[in-house]
Amino acid sequence: MSDVVIQTNAITKTYESGSNSVHALRGIDLTVHRGEFIAVMGQSGSGKSTLMNVLGCLDTPTSGNYLIDDVHVETLNKNELAAIRNEKIGFVFQGFNLLARTSALENVELPLLYDRSGRKRDSRAMAIAALERVGLADRVNHQPSELSGGQQQRVAIARALVTEPALILADEPTGNLDSRTSIEVMSLFQALNEQGITVLLVTHEPDVAIYAKRIVEFRDGRIRRDEPVKNRRNAAEDLANAEVLDDDIMAPVIAPAATVAVAGGVA
Ligand SMILES: Nc1ncnc2c1ncn2[C@@H]1O[C@H](COP(=O)(O)OP(=O)(O)OP(=O)(O)O)[C@@H](O)[C@H]1O
Ligand SMILES: [Mg+2]
Repeated sequence: MSDVVIQTNAITKTYESGSNSVHALRGIDLTVHRGEFIAVMGQSGSGKSTLMNVLGCLDTPTSGNYLIDDVHVETLNKNELAAIRNEKIGFVFQGFNLLARTSALENVELPLLYDRSGRKRDSRAMAIAALERVGLADRVNHQPSELSGGQQQRVAIARALVTEPALILADEPTGNLDSRTSIEVMSLFQALNEQGITVLLVTHEPDVAIYAKRIVEFRDGRIRRDEPVKNRRNAAEDLANAEVLDDDIMAPVIAPAATVAVAGGVA
């Protein structure tokens, strides 16, 4: 297993619509090493989702080629593409994309039911383990409508994780979440990344990108900036600090004055 999870060479993507062509990607050379955590940024229409769809084998480039986990993707037929998508890549979307009226457990189990690798496994136990990993052991039988936005996104992350992918691709996963819930989701991505999963995450928010290790910024279908995150933040710590602040606000209501003073001293 090489250290490189993704290597793209001069990838372009041109959409032809009627008489005009849209050059969504104009030559992308990107190398992603195992264990990286990349925030993909850039203005609307700059090609971020197009690249994610190509990397995720949901779309093919117009020219150029790329490797995922040492596999030359352009050599694969339709069935092989479906297999690599299922085995190596986990997707997380802005809108969660969970099946309605279907339990968290069944949503997470789904990719295993589509697995054609023939590996025998206990899909139910694996789905439960994935839900435990995202902190939702007590919500396995809830349907999406019975979960908060942050919980729904965590179910979607469990669904992305359940096949034990080499790579998670997340396209604006915090786009529908409030800022605190966004930090919770980012703390989960940081924890998974610590466990060795490579993460590529599209975001418009500098406050979200600050939790990644590297920022790749797009402009007009090209990479215009690629650098390590300066002053990277730890989402779990930020949450804990926010908790202290919340406690300060709540303290006069719920605690005697002496306790409040101690809590203030700690903060
Ligand atoms: N299926 C398509 N057919 C034609 N043009 C497309 C298609 N998909 C995307 N485009 C065009 O390609 C360009 C890049 O789109 P893309 O969705 O990759 O942008 P993005 O960076 O993800 O933007 P956003 O931040 O708004 O999500 C845009 O100009 C868009 O209009
Ligand atoms: Mg997009």
